[in-house]
Amino acid sequence: MAKEKTLEDLFSDTLKDIYYAEKRILKTLPKMAKAAESPKLKKGFEKHLAQTEGQVERLEQVFKICGQPARGKRCDAIEGIIAEGESIIKEFKGTPALDAGLISSAQAVEHYEITRYGTLRRWAEVLGMRNAAALLERTLKEEEQTDQLLTGIAEQANEDARQPSAPKGSGRTAKSGGAGKSSGQRGAAGEAEDASSADR
Ligand SMILES: [Fe+2]
Repeated sequence: MAKEKTLEDLFSDTLKDIYYAEKRILKTLPKMAKAAESPKLKKGFEKHLAQTEGQVERLEQVFKICGQPARGKRCDAIEGIIAEGESIIKEFKGTPALDAGLISSAQAVEHYEITRYGTLRRWAEVLGMRNAAALLERTLKEEEQTDQLLTGIAEQANEDARQPSAPKGSGRTAKSGGAGKSSGQRGAAGEAEDASSADR
């Protein structure tokens, strides 16, 4: 009979998944920083690279708490999100829409991480691993802050992407309102959608 699996097994598998994802993100962030047009976005990616190094270390502490070696397990979800980001770089390079596209894929990464860390933090609590839960919580907060930062930078990037021929800061504004400002993915992707359909 197959071994009975429990929440501990789920926790351990998911920990390996996010460890793999973080390491993959470490390799990708320098490429995104290099590709970004706006200095603000470049700086944002660079800052998050340094943060991600700390997040990897925190995960290694969680592995230690679990008495396991720190090992990743291939995560197809992050591979897919990163592959999409790479094709945005390829297809939109040299166009005014590049930064808006980069932000949308960076926010897809953040949201993936947020869901993983949210789950892991809760499972750590349920399993009575308070120190692990606190470490996971710290990273969760960082990912949420990064997502909000990207939503802020998206305001200008969406505007630039929308009016390729107009000088920056001139003329009409997109109906950006306040709706997207607090909700990450929806902030960037949703407003980009609004902007593209606004004049039709
Ligand atoms: Fe991360």
